[in-house]
Amino acid sequence: MNANTALRGRIALVTGATSGIGRAIAKNLAAQGANVVLHGRDQRRGEALAREIAAEGGDARFIAADLSDAESTLRLADEAGAVDILVNSAGLYEFAPTPVSDAASFDRQVAVNTRAPFLLVGALAPAMAARGQGVIVIVGSSAARMPAPIGAAYGASKAGAEVLTRYWATEFGPSGVRVNTVSPGPVHTEGTKAMLGEHTAMLDKTNARGRAGDPGEIADIVSFLVSDASAYVNGAVLFADGGELSALPS
Ligand SMILES: NC(=O)c1ccc[n+]([C@@H]2O[C@H](COP(=O)([O-])OP(=O)(O)OC[C@H]3O[C@@H](n4cnc5c(N)ncnc54)[C@H](OP(=O)(O)O)[C@@H]3O)[C@@H](O)[C@H]2O)c1
Repeated sequence: MNANTALRGRIALVTGATSGIGRAIAKNLAAQGANVVLHGRDQRRGEALAREIAAEGGDARFIAADLSDAESTLRLADEAGAVDILVNSAGLYEFAPTPVSDAASFDRQVAVNTRAPFLLVGALAPAMAARGQGVIVIVGSSAARMPAPIGAAYGASKAGAEVLTRYWATEFGPSGVRVNTVSPGPVHTEGTKAMLGEHTAMLDKTNARGRAGDPGEIADIVSFLVSDASAYVNGAVLFADGGELSALPS
């Protein structure tokens, strides 16, 4: 039985809940009593997480959808139904220099990181606005504002999500719907492990704290952004990146 009931009765859709940051967010919201709609592509991991949440006294169901496909994204919105909270955490990063990035890679990153939140908000925010309340959070990335020699397409896709955040805060704010982005720096996840293999420790050298983040730390920020404690926060990009280094350590 959950002791924390802050989100009891609220329905939360968390995209990308089968892994990494999204998984931590889904568990956090479920532990606060939310009825969580888990999304991902991997049915096995999605259903396992739903069972894990149920075993901990929470409530969750899983919907599979490929967010690189617009039709599949809209089906997810339809099957999720009316939600009070939408967290867009699904994302992919394909870090490569621009000359060797092809159109398909660019389109994939924009489709999942930018267009999917756009379609989900378009489908789900009107019902929130009609009810006069709702919260939308986007998991952005420090890549949107901190250039690097690789990853331009990824950075652009996340910058697009930041712009959308500000537009939606203006578009839906008057109807009681808040929209904010949390912008993480490097975080140790299954995704970064798959990308970097045995070199994941390099992420710990990227910021002033001297370590990469933990998915639970991003989930704590999302928890704040969906709570009434952030009632006056709308259209914000909240950086969670450990602080910038003026120069990389040798
Ligand atoms: N980790 C970092 O250092 C970091 C830093 C800044 C921002 N972020 C952002 O945080 C979010 C989560 O990152 P993560 O590191 O936790 O990633 P991850 O471990 O690789 O998990 C990615 C999630 O997104 C889902 N996903 C990927 N492509 C999808 C598609 N085409 N359709 C539907 N779902 C898809 C995956 O679903 P399946 O596994 O079921 O396929 C998975 O649930 C992303 O938006 C990422 O850009 C991460």
